[in-house]
Amino acid sequence: MAPNETGDELVFFVNGKKVVEKDVDPETTLLTYLRRKLGLCGTKLGCGEGGCGACTVMISKYDPFRRKILHHTANACLFPVCALHHVAVTTVEGIGNTKSRLHPAQERIAKSHGSQCGFCTPGIVMSMYTLLRNKPEPKMEDIEDAFQGNLCRCTGYRPILEGYRTFAKDLNCCGRVANGTGCCRSERENSMNGGCCRGKANGPDCCMNGKDDNVTMMSSSLFNSSEFQPLDPTQEPIFPPELMTQGNKQQKQLCFKGERVMWIQPTTLKELVALKSQYPNAKLVVGNTEVGIEMRLKNMLYPVIIAPAWISEMNAVQHTEMGVTFGAACTLSLVEEVLRKAVAELPPYKTEVFQAVLEQLRWFAGPQIRNVAALGGNIMTASPISDLNPVLMASGSKLTLVSNEGKRTVTMDEKFFTGYRKTIVKPEEILLSVEIPYSRKGEYFSAFKQASRREDDIAIVTCGMRVLFQDGTSRVEEIKLSYGGMAPTTVLALKTCQELTGRDWNEKLLQDACRLLAGEMDLSASAPGGMVDFRRTLTLSFFFKFYLTVLQKLSKNHNGNNNLCEPVPSNYISATELFHKDPIANAQLFQEVPKGQAVEDMVGRPLMHVSAAKQACGEAVYCDDIPHYEKELYLTLVTSTKAHAKILSVDASEAQSVPGFVCFVSAKDVPGSNITGIANDETVFAEDVVTCVGHIIGAVVADTQEHSRRAAKAVKIKYEELKPIVTIQVRWLRSASAVSLGCFLHDVRHLVTPGTPHLWDISFHFLGEMYLAGQEHFYLETHCTLAVPKGEDGEMELFVSTQNLMKTQEFAANALGVPSNRVVVRVKRMGGGFGGKETRSTILTTAVAVAAFKTGRPVRCMLDRDEDMLISGGRHPFLGRYKVGFMKNGRVKSLQVSYYSNGGNSVDLSYGVMDRALLHLDNSYNIPNVSAVGTVCKTNLASNTAFRGFGGPQGMMIAECWMSDLARKCGLPPEEVRKLNLYNEGDLTHFNQKLEGFTLRRCWDECLSSCSYHARKKLIEEFNKQNRWKKRGMCIIPTKFGISFTVPFLNQAGALVHVYTDGSVLLTHGGTEMGQGLHTKMIQVASRSLGIPTSKIHISETSTNTVPNTSPTAASVSADINGMAVHNACQTILKRLEPIKQSNPKGSWEDWIKAAYENCVSLSATGFYRIPDLGYDFEKNEGKPFCYFSYGVACSEVEIDCLTGDHKNMRTDIVMDVGTSLNPAIDIGQIEGAFVQGLGLFTMEELRYSPEGNLYTRGPGMYKIPAFGDIPTEFYVSLLRDCPNSKAVYSSKAVGEPPLFLSASVFYAIKDAIYSARKDSGLTEPFRLDSPATPERIRNACVDIFTKMCPSAEPGTFKPWSVRV
Ligand SMILES: Cc1cc2nc3c(=O)[nH]c(=O)nc-3n(C[C@H](O)[C@H](O)[C@H](O)COP(=O)(O)OP(=O)(O)OC[C@H]3O[C@@H](n4cnc5c(N)ncnc54)[C@H](O)[C@@H]3O)c2cc1C
Ligand code: FES
Ligand code: FES
Repeated sequence: MAPNETGDELVFFVNGKKVVEKDVDPETTLLTYLRRKLGLCGTKLGCGEGGCGACTVMISKYDPFRRKILHHTANACLFPVCALHHVAVTTVEGIGNTKSRLHPAQERIAKSHGSQCGFCTPGIVMSMYTLLRNKPEPKMEDIEDAFQGNLCRCTGYRPILEGYRTFAKDLNCCGRVANGTGCCRSERENSMNGGCCRGKANGPDCCMNGKDDNVTMMSSSLFNSSEFQPLDPTQEPIFPPELMTQGNKQQKQLCFKGERVMWIQPTTLKELVALKSQYPNAKLVVGNTEVGIEMRLKNMLYPVIIAPAWISEMNAVQHTEMGVTFGAACTLSLVEEVLRKAVAELPPYKTEVFQAVLEQLRWFAGPQIRNVAALGGNIMTASPISDLNPVLMASGSKLTLVSNEGKRTVTMDEKFFTGYRKTIVKPEEILLSVEIPYSRKGEYFSAFKQASRREDDIAIVTCGMRVLFQDGTSRVEEIKLSYGGMAPTTVLALKTCQELTGRDWNEKLLQDACRLLAGEMDLSASAPGGMVDFRRTLTLSFFFKFYLTVLQKLSKNHNGNNNLCEPVPSNYISATELFHKDPIANAQLFQEVPKGQAVEDMVGRPLMHVSAAKQACGEAVYCDDIPHYEKELYLTLVTSTKAHAKILSVDASEAQSVPGFVCFVSAKDVPGSNITGIANDETVFAEDVVTCVGHIIGAVVADTQEHSRRAAKAVKIKYEELKPIVTIQVRWLRSASAVSLGCFLHDVRHLVTPGTPHLWDISFHFLGEMYLAGQEHFYLETHCTLAVPKGEDGEMELFVSTQNLMKTQEFAANALGVPSNRVVVRVKRMGGGFGGKETRSTILTTAVAVAAFKTGRPVRCMLDRDEDMLISGGRHPFLGRYKVGFMKNGRVKSLQVSYYSNGGNSVDLSYGVMDRALLHLDNSYNIPNVSAVGTVCKTNLASNTAFRGFGGPQGMMIAECWMSDLARKCGLPPEEVRKLNLYNEGDLTHFNQKLEGFTLRRCWDECLSSCSYHARKKLIEEFNKQNRWKKRGMCIIPTKFGISFTVPFLNQAGALVHVYTDGSVLLTHGGTEMGQGLHTKMIQVASRSLGIPTSKIHISETSTNTVPNTSPTAASVSADINGMAVHNACQTILKRLEPIKQSNPKGSWEDWIKAAYENCVSLSATGFYRIPDLGYDFEKNEGKPFCYFSYGVACSEVEIDCLTGDHKNMRTDIVMDVGTSLNPAIDIGQIEGAFVQGLGLFTMEELRYSPEGNLYTRGPGMYKIPAFGDIPTEFYVSLLRDCPNSKAVYSSKAVGEPPLFLSASVFYAIKDAIYSARKDSGLTEPFRLDSPATPERIRNACVDIFTKMCPSAEPGTFKPWSVRV
């Protein structure tokens, strides 16, 4: 059947408006269409691979098979526009706006402070909105599940859940089920479970409100939910009636042709079969969640796509005698719905397989993917880590295939997969349906999956396990163990199964099974994916869990007939329990403003982020949302694929033939200097040599993003490879010294306090080492620049997502060969920065500026997520070695440390990062004698850079490593040893700075008491005694963070205040807004300074032509220094107004301004501030590096699964000193956001590199940041009361970076739990645990019989898949 020669008409609706498209390109995604064609920029691009949810929209369609309208979420970045025929799309703009009315889903996230940078917000709003459309009265669990496919890097998720909890009908104030056990109100008295009353804190009875103080009180009300508009489902837009009518009509085959791809959508199975025989290589696309990724990320091209969405047989569900048959195009959400119903209705013995499928689907991607991805797509992708294939294989599911030749049914068994991503299905065949069988009496089934992150992550190892017993016995009649992640295909452990058949289900069978599996499920030490020991151990751990689960069911089913099988030992039972989430609970406490503070004085109040409502409505403009200029071009970078090589040739001739190609830009096009970088050791474009994978060599400029992308891929580069160095290559020579092995030591920094040489003799000492992996910033908005040449005098306007306007301007001007006064840099807001846009944004901006200069036209580039991760570097990996001298009572006497950081291929900010690491090597402890050496290692990786904490977390983490070893060595409780060594007021740090206003001990005592530390510790000990395979751990950790840039001159800021004749104020300052609420705080400061309401003050943007020479928005000091500069400017204005005010004391602000104008008084003023008396000399160990310190303490409790390495964050309590908070909502948001980012750093996020320096982890698919489900179930944060800070604006303190390190409490709680597991294996000595504490590290550290059966290969005897850098 030949499709039409011309394309058909595509008809769909967007936000109620009909769209008819004639020439639609099948390669266009819905996201591109919305943003480019319809100008609906509320829907964001965060990753382009379905992994972040920033692009979430609601899809509504009439389902003719089920005769109802369905609403579901989908990722617009993967949704082909051609799949929209007769579908209605709702975007964030379609549900509410700031001009008329916000939808409750928008209003509540904004008012509950759930939007910081706002880049994730529209996607989260749309997930919530869709849930409410389907379920106006959701349960809290529904709300949490709805966000499985959304990520946020800023907020730490708690405020989002808190705001949306107000929609939940089953929960009360604290998140626990109302009136049930666990409710804070009922447990308040019980100090074991709550300690502090939390939720009642705003009453006078609260323990936090001192009786002698009736001036200020603690409050827990960050927002007032009584202000929220009620949800009225009757007000929602109706489904377009035209689509209902169309939905009931017979569809006609559709065909759309693009530049390279044709899309055909047949209507009958007959048509489909004929098309597949005509185009055997055509891809069948349902959800496009696999094909979309292959085309975008793997550079695959499929010229013919056939969409079977309308084929009734492929969408049908049938209940048969043997099981349930699903059409292959049934979505995973539908499968879930049908099986859930079956499980509820059928006898449990029949639904063992269904329950296993449901368990796998519970952790399968996010709802946006499950709503569109098909069951058939998962099977036919034939991924070795598919979650469903092991279950389908172990259950012996039946697949019906159809082609021109007719139908055939095959069983999913060991013959089905023939190789990596290959099956026995012939090219012309189609998978028609899948029958998932009922289980029988005496048959048991389990499925397990372990991933780096529980929610929305692909498996490391996954499995389906089935056993059938001979009637009435515990003798195995049939057993099938199927694994994913252990070979290039899903595999059956055939030999093991054969040996176990006919055997009794007992201890002996377990031992033999493990021995056999260890042999059969072997992996080469170089296996792709790495984690070889872990994966092998998991195969045994999963079997052990299966063994226990079946044993438990057998003993239950055999009703006490215990001679048939042994009961499961009581301390083993928790090993069989599936992961369950407890309802979340939290409280956030802060000090209310003093009684009597003027109502309009907003300083100290939880004012909502000034852009939150716009962000929630998709109206906030980010760099790539700026409307397109006429004749605008798009740029795609061409980067090195080698870590170290000479460039032999660059050939762009093939790129020229791509439609829309304009030019190739390289070093020879740079009109000014090609030399750039903070230390002048970088180039705009590489010329002769490349020094990392991702090194920018050139760029292609074309008319559209798609064309420039395609052309960039066609540029051919020839290299002569040189030996790369990718790791910190050092080894011990003698204690506390190291030499380089190949990598050259770029910079060595010493910090020595005058110690007593013989101290090592009188104290005990030990040595140790810790490695901390790096971290990707994963701001939701990737780097973006729009360069607009102005056409005269070399002027250029740069719209950039950057934290550093000054360097952006300077570097661009330098590359363009013009003075800085010709380049204007403008930043409205960023979708997150976290240090990643402090300097590295310039590598894109300079390239775009050069391209704009060359073409004379506006040029734009927003990096794809994979490019961004590849080229822009991240947090420095650190290796720390230490020698600690101590007394038996736990007192530290001396410390020698060597820190090594992996700087990457240029200096960038590496020296500063190392300086801060050394200045924080004490964390919060008084160490009389310190000798430290810091070495930055230059390697062939992308240059590492600033990241929230700037070396501080690495420096402190190593301190906590030896501190935890020390407690073990002394046999003392860790919290006692930590407390013993804490500084006191007036102490000198190792860099000779006196600690004044030292509130850390107050934070410590408050945290220890409010979290009921000692009582809970006893409970944990009890739990650990009663559970062999689940262990709990707890740890309390302090932090002290020095506030200032360590480069003294950066501690300056400027501001500009214009007052207009209507009294409105336009405020500008040197800081940028990246979600941290700086503009909101600055408005609060200006409002108090000028004595006018915040509503009269506006900040439009940050720009180099309003405030020049700005320091980067970094080092946590932006509110301090810009706040003082704003205050200073306001004072100047007030001084000028003074005579006018005196002459009319009863006048209003508007009267005075009008009079000032008429009296020719200037209403514009600049302000300036510098932090005085800063400057530290490392050589002499003299001077003051920091203005003051921020302090905090956190206590965390975790539970680990010793068999899988999984962990659950059960509870965290934080007490933080933020001085007198300028805005408690923003400060608590920073604390929680930083904490959760730190949680990623220390427990989850792992960048993986090949031995050749190639980054594997280039997107959310492989690189996991914490998701909604990873935050502590109970999360309590309080701001220390009564601690004004005399060193910063309105007695506040810096907050951006200091709390990040508190997440180390989770890491050391995990380590504490591992200690307990190791103790059960007879191991009591301190052990090494590197960061992050991933499931792999946790499992490997929980040494037991299973790990011993999977010994590691001898290092050096194989080439590993990935290396520690
Ligand atoms: C963010 C994200 C998360 C994911 N998480 C998981 C996860 O946790 N676990 C997991 O197992 N997978 C996961 N996947 C993989 C993917 O979602 C599944 O494999 C999905 O089921 C594929 O279905 P689809 O309809 O989208 O496939 P499509 O992309 O539409 O098609 C996939 C392949 O199957 C072929 N095909 C589809 N239907 C048929 C048919 N009827 N007959 C013959 N060939 C057919 C197509 O030709 C194509 O080659 C994830 C993917 C993404 C993007
Ligand atoms: S942009 Fe679509 S999921 Fe990330
Ligand atoms: S607010 Fe969620 S990513 Fe910034």
